[in-house]
Amino acid sequence: MIIAANFKSNLTLQKIKNYFSVLDSFVNGNDDVYVFPPFFAMQEKAKNFHIGVQNAYCEFNGAFSGEITLESLNDFGIKNILIGHSERRNIFGENQELCARKFDFFAQNNFSIFYCIGESLETRKKGKSAIEDFLSSQFDRIDVDYEKLIVAYEPVWAIGTGVSAKIEEIEETHNFLRTLTKRPLLYGGSVQLQNISDILKIKNVDGALIGSASLDVENFKKMIEVARGKK
Ligand code: 13P
Repeated sequence: MIIAANFKSNLTLQKIKNYFSVLDSFVNGNDDVYVFPPFFAMQEKAKNFHIGVQNAYCEFNGAFSGEITLESLNDFGIKNILIGHSERRNIFGENQELCARKFDFFAQNNFSIFYCIGESLETRKKGKSAIEDFLSSQFDRIDVDYEKLIVAYEPVWAIGTGVSAKIEEIEETHNFLRTLTKRPLLYGGSVQLQNISDILKIKNVDGALIGSASLDVENFKKMIEVARGKK
């Protein structure tokens, strides 16, 4: 089971330092834990979990004001990245073409790529084939066989709402995603301590990507504990 935390634009450097030291002494070699803090915490180190970046631009360096690029990630030894998060796509206007360019670039540079996909409520309401067509379109130009690809299915309507997708919805969607790729499939969208056990039991769910419920380290530790002992 892969358990990943996306802090988004939350916490401060001091809070993250404390968080990392608590988490690092809790996680052990059998866990597979990733944390994606804001960029200002990239220089922090951890022995027992992986640190990744929530976003970066697909160039080594150059005139890209406000963007983080490969040279600085190399400097911090970062080899894990989120690409295609719905907040990047919807708030910052990243289209599929840009997501695919980022994917190619960071795959060529041997990153583990947590590639995020997920439909809107409008698409969800249109039914199974509309959902499948939409999710398929989010794989345009993406190498679904890339050996360091981890897919995160995060329905937009379940992110930050406190209401996760239903078990049957996750199961049906992950079964479909399994026909597209053999790589690990994470579910994300209001995963909490109360529902993570049921979510991780679903066939074709290989882990979880957790936002708000990961911000408290004690809560996140309990969620990792739940993941222990699952397939
Ligand atoms: P929440 O867990 O806050 O719904 O966020 C999910 C998410 O977007 C993780 O990337």
